[in-house]
Amino acid sequence: MSKFIIQGGKRLEGEVKISGSKNAALPIIAATVLNGGKTTLYNVPDIQDVHTMFEIIKDIGGKVVKRHNKIIINTSKIHTYEIPDNLMRQMRSSVILAGALIGKYHQARFSCPGGCDIGARPIDLHLKGFEKLGINIKEEFGEIVCSAEKIIGTQIHLDFPSVGATENIILAACLGEGTTIITNAAKEPEIEDLVKYLNKMGAKIKGAGTDRVEIIGVKGLEEISYNIMPDRIEAGTYLVAGAITGGNIKLTNVCPPHIEPILNKLEEANCKLIIEKSTIQIDAPKRIKAVDIKTMPYPGFPTDMQSIFGALLTTAKGTSIITENIFESRYKYVQELNRMGAKIKVEGRSAIIKGTRRIQGAKVVATDLRGGAALVLEALMAKGVTEIDNTHYILRGYERIEEKLKKLGAKIY
Ligand code: EPZ
Repeated sequence: MSKFIIQGGKRLEGEVKISGSKNAALPIIAATVLNGGKTTLYNVPDIQDVHTMFEIIKDIGGKVVKRHNKIIINTSKIHTYEIPDNLMRQMRSSVILAGALIGKYHQARFSCPGGCDIGARPIDLHLKGFEKLGINIKEEFGEIVCSAEKIIGTQIHLDFPSVGATENIILAACLGEGTTIITNAAKEPEIEDLVKYLNKMGAKIKGAGTDRVEIIGVKGLEEISYNIMPDRIEAGTYLVAGAITGGNIKLTNVCPPHIEPILNKLEEANCKLIIEKSTIQIDAPKRIKAVDIKTMPYPGFPTDMQSIFGALLTTAKGTSIITENIFESRYKYVQELNRMGAKIKVEGRSAIIKGTRRIQGAKVVATDLRGGAALVLEALMAKGVTEIDNTHYILRGYERIEEKLKKLGAKIY
């Protein structure tokens, strides 16, 4: 398995360019199915989860060509509507392809997505939305089979503002008949980016980024090119790399409004920030102040930053409380941080973190993408050497992370 060896204690300084957003790229790649032709994408992150989505597109008959700084996807020859089981198991979020296949071909087949290391992650809200659109859903031998004569626009209220369910319903409805209204829709920036892409192709969608999204079905969609938005969680991760090492880092190619809640918490923790249109510079104190975190749907504090702040707060002056309100088991990283000397106690959905200066390098194991990122950040600050195993989790969502950290002065091998 892949490993990182990190010699901690180094103050990080310098500039880092933020890559394209994983969580915008994945639904947009799925949406390329809808125009049955070519899409040229720019600023696509070179990460494992994106490669997995490309594999699925090729497996069902699409073509994916990488040329310099762009990816050309051609979905004119899609010949199957089944998401391959092995790839579905590898990446649960490939369920987003179901909405696109149903929207374009009125059929899709996929295995029930397994859970993962951050919780059960059901798809009941996706399926309920599909049914309201007139899609028949049956379960056969652990597979979900969707089919429809036609897709009829309707009103859909989400019990929870699920990002994936909002995206999947939009994809299934945009070539349907009539108008679909989603209420209690998720408002994440990645949904706005997906809708900007769809509207550029000729879709008629309003309200993305609010809790009420209106989709007026259209007959067909055009071939276009599109530039993926910056990754707000990668941006937050490198800001915390500066904060946890008492460093000074400038991020370029970022969108500050997308990460307001993160910037607000870093300032509360006594970090100085210089925020401009597409850059953010962080100048961190030797030791940050303890702060409390409650994860919420956007525009609240993002759950994907919970473990990353968990690492940061292990060295804060004082005691912090984190409350995870989105996923039911997103604290697997805590036991690994405690092996390094952190003082974290998990009680139900909360983690109580007593700040300490005594964090030592150790042998630790990544359990998921953002938990793994938390271990890297802790290792950058720890005294001595840390060995992180299972780093393939981290490479799922962070483009060239070793190279970017080395450029900031980190000793990572
Ligand atoms: C997206 O996952 C992101 N993934 C996640 O990022 C992110 O943590 C999450 O949104 C929340 O912001 C991608 O965009 C590829 P949800 P998604 O549906 O769509 C429950 C990362 O690290 N739920 O908003 O799966 C669910 O169990 C990843 O980049 C249902 O109960 O998230 C969870 O508790 C991790 N039924 C909550 O809603 C459903 O049908 C939020 O899930 C769907 C979801």
